[in-house]
Formats: sequence, structure tokens, C-alpha cells
Amino acid sequence: MRGKRRQTGSVIPIVRRLLVAAVQAYSFAADVFEPYGSWLAESVTRSREEDVMTKYYEPEHFEGYARIRREGLDQWNDLHPDDRGGGYNNFSNREFLAAQMPQAAGLGLSVLEYGCGTGSAACFLAERGYRVHAVDLVPDAIAIARERVAQRGLRVRFDVQDICEWRESDEQYDFVVDAFCLNSIVIDEDRARVLNGVRRRLNSGGRYLLSTSVYRPDREYGEEHFDAGTGIVWVPTAGPGEAALLLDGTWYLPHRRHVTSTALRAELAGHGFRVLDLQEPFGANLVCELS
Ligand SMILES: C[S@@+](CC[C@H](N)C(=O)[O-])C[C@H]1O[C@@H](n2cnc3c(N)ncnc32)[C@H](O)[C@@H]1O
Repeated sequence: MRGKRRQTGSVIPIVRRLLVAAVQAYSFAADVFEPYGSWLAESVTRSREEDVMTKYYEPEHFEGYARIRREGLDQWNDLHPDDRGGGYNNFSNREFLAAQMPQAAGLGLSVLEYGCGTGSAACFLAERGYRVHAVDLVPDAIAIARERVAQRGLRVRFDVQDICEWRESDEQYDFVVDAFCLNSIVIDEDRARVLNGVRRRLNSGGRYLLSTSVYRPDREYGEEHFDAGTGIVWVPTAGPGEAALLLDGTWYLPHRRHVTSTALRAELAGHGFRVLDLQEPFGANLVCELS
């Protein structure tokens, strides 16, 4: 019995090593043949691309900030001609933050802003005396944010980070701020990861300040498909991708989540937050604490 076990134990690693070596040789051969356009190179390249499938929320944001950089725009809202022109300091949830986060010089209060984009809110809060850590998915956005902070002589810690895959951290903050990021995190599993991450990062007694789009009965969806049951807005796409849906012969990607304020309250309660205040000026501004 013992002998048999030893035998199996010694064979498996060898087989595994042989397999790894075969894959490495295959991959190496693909690199060598790549310039010649061989079928081998193509098949390996394709399988490598499939391994790192693009997340549904990536292309829009990567392309958006590439355009913001190219055209020298200030922030995300400038991508929509109707919202353009307010300038860098005039960001979407400024009034809300000004009301909820008074001057804090000398108080040592800390803020995590996720989905910070080009950093206008982060700059505003740093000017008000907060210790700001701001993260975004897109390296271009963070690069612009760093430039703007340096021009203003402020200090903000910026990181590129996908909040659907929070990094391990035991840091906690007095405030967590979101200006219109959660509405582009669409599928349940991702929203749960985001909200659980926020809960872990908030000090007891801290505030989660969330500005987000919600369902509006008068909103026009055009070629997009709005599913009233889930609040998911699906956008037509060229072909299948992560979390894509085939509907009447057209592929759609999850694009936005426009839930009712009642559903949002329930979702937040399910992830350990109590909503202290909810105002709906154009989206919704929510003040939450840990329950
Ligand atoms: C509507 S924009 C708002 C940007 C900024 N807060 C503002 O008000 O200008 C949404 C932001 O969320 C970021 N974002 C989207 N998905 C994300 C993710 N999974 N992780 C981190 N940031 C994300 C986008 O790159 C984008 O900057």
C-alpha cells in the first residue's frame, strides 16, 4: 500500500512537469513562428486572448479616458456635449460632498474615493484637508489625476485598481466616496464584491457617500435594452463577450444598472449598510453608515 502511494506520488509531478514543458514548448514555438503568420502562432495567440477576457466594464472606460487625454478634456462628463464646459473644479457631486464633508484641516480624516476618474473630487477633498486615497480602473485617468494634483501642489495617493477585484488590505477610512461608478458595475456578483469591499474599508462610525444613477420613468434608452426586472441596461455589441446576452439575434453587454431607490436601499441593507439619507436631485445621493 505504502509502496503504491509513493509510486503514484512520484509519477504525478513528473507528468505535470512534462505537460508544463509541452505547453511552454508550444508557446515558444508560437512566438518563433509568429512573424510568419503560422496557424500555430494564431491558435496560441487566440487562446491567450481568451484567457484574459475583457471585463464588460473595461472598453467603455479605457476608450473614454483615451479620448479625454487626446482632446485635453477635464473629466468624464465632458464626453457628453450637453454636460461639457463646467471646468475641472465643477464635478458632478461637488455640492453633495461640500455639504457632507466640511473643512477638515488638522482633523486627520481619511477618504477612499473609488472610480475617481481624473481626480477632481479628490483634489477638492485634499484642498479641504482630508487625507485622500483615490483609485480608478484606468491608468490614463490616474495619470491625468496625478498631473492635476501636481499642478495644484496637493497631495493625494492615487492607485490603479479594479474595485471588482479589491486588493488585500486592512486599511480603513472615515469616508468612502463614489461619484457615479457603482451604476456601471452591473452584474450582481461584481456589485456584491464592490459593496463588501467598501464595508470592510469603512471605519465603524464612518460614512459611505454614494452618488449614483437610479431608475427614472422618463429616461429614453434608444437602441439600448432596459430590463425593468433587474434594472440592467444592455448595450448592443459586435459579438459575444464577458456576461453578454443574445437577444433576438443581437448581442448585448451589461452597461448600466438603473435600480429604483427602493431596490438600492434593499441592496445596501443586504451588504451591511444603513441609509441615513437619500436625495434624488438628478441621480441619487446617499449617506450610509455600517449597520
Ligand atoms: C461615470 S465615470 C465617473 C468618474 C468620476 N467619478 C467623475 O465624477 O468624473 C465612472 C468611473 O468609474 C471607473 N470605474 C468603472 N469601473 C471600475 C472598476 N471596476 N474599478 C475601478 N474603477 C472603475 C471608470 O473608469 C470611471 O472613471
